Amino acid sequence: MSKIILGISSSIAAYKACELTRMFVKAGHSVYCVLTENALNLVSPITLENLSGNPVYSDYFSRERREMGHIELKNDASLLLVAPATANIIGKFANGIADDLLSTTFISVNCPVIMAPAMNPNMYGHPAVRANIERLKSWGVGFVDPGEGAVACGDEGYGRLADLDRIFKAAMDAVKG
Ligand SMILES: Cc1cc2nc3c(=O)[nH]c(=O)nc-3n(C[C@H](O)[C@H](O)[C@H](O)COP(=O)(O)O)c2cc1C
Repeated sequence: MSKIILGISSSIAAYKACELTRMFVKAGHSVYCVLTENALNLVSPITLENLSGNPVYSDYFSRERREMGHIELKNDASLLLVAPATANIIGKFANGIADDLLSTTFISVNCPVIMAPAMNPNMYGHPAVRANIERLKSWGVGFVDPGEGAVACGDEGYGRLADLDRIFKAAMDAVKG
């Protein structure tokens, strides 16, 4: 059984993190979800708490959750998986910005890190996003590339969150080492 930190940022695909959580739990892993503040608008922490059976973390300065900040959260973690990963969280990780719990967790962990981007195809193709992804790859961060097709806003291209089976497999390969 592995401890997986599942980072969830505010893509419209954030709801898919609920199913991903269920898949990991069903496979016997423990899941700790860390949501960005913006992701709280798109997916319910109550759903994730029930599916994971663990508290959900978001507020960096929460008094109730102070016993489990980024330092404790990283202990024994086998994997930090960010799915979905916004252009914004990719940019923060690539530049060492640590202004919330998820970005601070990234620069605290020793375990493998995998990101599954999800965004509009124009965003995914933007030189800023391309450069940030290349930089993270050069540091050993793994990526599950988006699929092709229509995205929520109606545009077509690469940007849809990868199929959950692909993300699940990449995560399992990473925890096996
Ligand atoms: C309904 C909605 C859907 C969004 N979907 C995406 C998305 O799929 N990918 C993305 O990179 N940004 C998306 N955004 C923009 C991000 O939410 C925005 O850049 C935000 O600042 C990212 O914050 P976070 O990375 O801390 O979650 C969306 C915004 C809204 C309002």
